[in-house]
Amino acid sequence: MTATIIDGKAFAAGLRARVGDAAAAFTRAAGRRPGLAVVLVGEDAASAVYVRSKGKATVAAGMESFEHRLPADTDEAALLALVERLNADDAVDGILVQLPLPPHIDERAVIARIDPAKDVDGFHPVNAGRLATGLDALVPCTPLGCLMLLKDLHPSLSGMEAIVIGRSNIVGKPMGQLLLGESCTVTTAHSRTRDIAAHVRRADIVVAAVGIPAFVKPDWVKPGATVIDVGINRTETGLVGDVDPAVAAVAGAMTPVPGGVGPMTIAVLLRNTLVAAGRRAGVTVDEGAL
Ligand code: GUN
Repeated sequence: MTATIIDGKAFAAGLRARVGDAAAAFTRAAGRRPGLAVVLVGEDAASAVYVRSKGKATVAAGMESFEHRLPADTDEAALLALVERLNADDAVDGILVQLPLPPHIDERAVIARIDPAKDVDGFHPVNAGRLATGLDALVPCTPLGCLMLLKDLHPSLSGMEAIVIGRSNIVGKPMGQLLLGESCTVTTAHSRTRDIAAHVRRADIVVAAVGIPAFVKPDWVKPGATVIDVGINRTETGLVGDVDPAVAAVAGAMTPVPGGVGPMTIAVLLRNTLVAAGRRAGVTVDEGAL
């Protein structure tokens, strides 16, 4: 058997188009465009590429893009002051501070300062807590994108065995919460998990977000399982996911790297910005149609 390749690039293009239509409707109703502010501190090359493509995608979706580039030696107080200004700015619906921040800045303090209603990354403890308790939340973009791909394939995930490999605040933990919310039986595996292969073998759904090239091996995967590869590892041989490509011979469906989860993140960021704008302006946005 060879896995169906899940075309995240095509799904993301569709989502961006739907968000663009809904953004135009928001603009007609609110008399202004949804606005996303992106903050980049320092010169990290990969981060600069992400920030540029976020800005382009924001404008392409009919939204306002505000870019703030600060030098690497910006102190924490100055960054917090910028976050406060963006919190108070009515034209800004979403605030994204690109991570990682330079080591002299406390990331948690910066995230905690963002107005939870504008926290389109879903990293603020209020949003993490809302997600965990089943309240309306702004949900981290990458795991929400993974869930959209999964639900496109399996409209009901109820009762399925799911394993999330990785326990980061950005992907692993919110991914587990989303799958639990869909009534999956969820296992979270991480670097201290004993006999990880035995856990993966039970799973109907595997989400790999560990940041280790080709970590998940074909003989770990249950035949027919759906495998979502969040990994983007730059190696000497190019971009490699967290899943060994040979898993495609065993899985029922699998995301490629690149072209799987990657394109979903920015599309969901635009979706979250629109959702935040709608909630802030009191304009109805049909979130189910996005
Ligand atoms: N760095 C890597 N991924 C992300 C993300 O989703 N949001 C932010 N803000 N920074 C990141």
